[in-house]
Amino acid sequence: MEIDNLSSSSSFWLFLWFSVLFLAPNAEVHQHDFVIKAVPVKRLCHTRSTITVNGQFPGPTLLVRNGDSLVIRVVNQAKYNITLHWHGIRQLRNGWADGPAYVTQCPIQAGGSYTYRFSVEDQEGTLWWHAHNSWLRATVHGALIILPKLHCSYPFAPPKCEFPLILGEWWNANPLDIIRRALKTGAAPQPSDSLTINGQPGDLYKCSTKETTVIPVAAGETILLRFINAAMLTELFVSVADHNMTVVAADSSYTKPFTTSVVLIAPGQTTDVLIHANRPAGRYYIAARAYQSGSLNTPFDNTTTTAILIYENQTPGHSPPKLPVLPPYNDTAAVAAFSAGIKGLYAVKIPAPVDEHLFFTVGLGLISCQQGKTCSGPNGTLFTTSMNNYSFVLPKGLSLLQAAQSGVRGVFTTDFPASPPVKFDYTGDNISTSLYQPVRATKLYPLKYGSVVQLVMQGTNIYMSEEHPMHIHGYEFLVLATGRGNFDAKRDAAKFNLVDPPRRNTVGVPVKGWGVIRFVADNPGVWFVHCHIDSHLSWGLAMAFLVENGAGELQSTAPPPLDLPKC
Ligand code: C2O
Repeated sequence: MEIDNLSSSSSFWLFLWFSVLFLAPNAEVHQHDFVIKAVPVKRLCHTRSTITVNGQFPGPTLLVRNGDSLVIRVVNQAKYNITLHWHGIRQLRNGWADGPAYVTQCPIQAGGSYTYRFSVEDQEGTLWWHAHNSWLRATVHGALIILPKLHCSYPFAPPKCEFPLILGEWWNANPLDIIRRALKTGAAPQPSDSLTINGQPGDLYKCSTKETTVIPVAAGETILLRFINAAMLTELFVSVADHNMTVVAADSSYTKPFTTSVVLIAPGQTTDVLIHANRPAGRYYIAARAYQSGSLNTPFDNTTTTAILIYENQTPGHSPPKLPVLPPYNDTAAVAAFSAGIKGLYAVKIPAPVDEHLFFTVGLGLISCQQGKTCSGPNGTLFTTSMNNYSFVLPKGLSLLQAAQSGVRGVFTTDFPASPPVKFDYTGDNISTSLYQPVRATKLYPLKYGSVVQLVMQGTNIYMSEEHPMHIHGYEFLVLATGRGNFDAKRDAAKFNLVDPPRRNTVGVPVKGWGVIRFVADNPGVWFVHCHIDSHLSWGLAMAFLVENGAGELQSTAPPPLDLPKC
């Protein structure tokens, strides 16, 4: 640890002092330096300059316990501005450490630095961290694993070993160029060149055999795999040849153990599974490939990434590993069956009565091309996305949270509609093209501190329908139900799980379908709500909640840290 740096930062000492004062016994403060820098990375016989943390791809794993605090000093040595987001961490009263660019902070300028300080409060399981501006998160991401408190255990028999498996996507070109071109031409971004597991495509791709990720097991033992979908565009089916998986957690909440041959993970989500090594000693592929919920005619990465589960003392001869059978690319029924299997481990008290009944549409749109220009989206348009017909525009000079905290006007408005401005047959086949073009705006929805919110997210079939993994910052929510078609309050309320719904931070809103979530607005600040498919986010599939302060300091956003970056 550099002594000069420490002594020059009085806010750090203050933080440490508070941490020592308030940390539970045994809780720890984890300090890390994250240096953002470009290094050459070789994949698929091809080397390119890649933005990383500390030269690692994927980035370093953060391993902490529930109750611990983190102090992460980010030093930006890359030529791009950047922010980091701690996906799923609640950041109570502490939006300053959340990270989405222009939502809670201005980006860390090239050459600049910023220290993220936050604690883990009543959360455990698998989360992750990633860059949160432009498409830097394609390579700037890593696992954030929260173990139970010291002397506490998992609600299942302790596994022999644990492995984070980060699913991702690799482009031979710079991902920033991929999204820049897409936004310029209006076309969908070019699909990735490979899917990856822990940064490696695996041996079904060229030049990738040697580096394939390997998971060692001994016959008879049970291991825990922590899957994280860090891919930019692709929902993924995952299977292990000849082995079932028992799902025990999703996002950072335990689930009722549920045994399945296939797991579906959308970008942003995590899934923890136990695998019992009960097959003949040998080598078995862990394989992942796309779930393409939209039309199969839309280009997508249809390759298969693999890691290998290798038994100790396997029979010599090394027969090639066995591949699992994965569902067809468009197997929406398999997705529905999997998501129906996910239930919270414990019965929970469902927050009620509901103070805010919200209904947001989520979907695609098309903008007409500027006169005299040529656009390469469908029928010469530009692709866009929206929620309740508003396509979200980030501010420039100041973050939303800074503007809200210091009362700066003109940065956003608080009139995001509670329900769609125009009601229509959202999932119908013949939606009038007059509904295709959303309005670009920076609208927030205000929530009173402590209000009980029920949010219906309704997919639309504008241009086409896809599943949208919807993520909310600063919160975990109960997923009461998901379903197909248009949500019908009378009919579908009967489908709500009011006993043991899963608690998540990212919910897949099914293709031509809906999802209903509930939460208590107990975390003041500005919290981003968006689709975790990054093309959709780049096109505006987002909004933000402005959760007002409650009474007193313990219900109010803390003052901003002194080193908060300036735009
Ligand atoms: Cu995982 Cu707004 O992000």
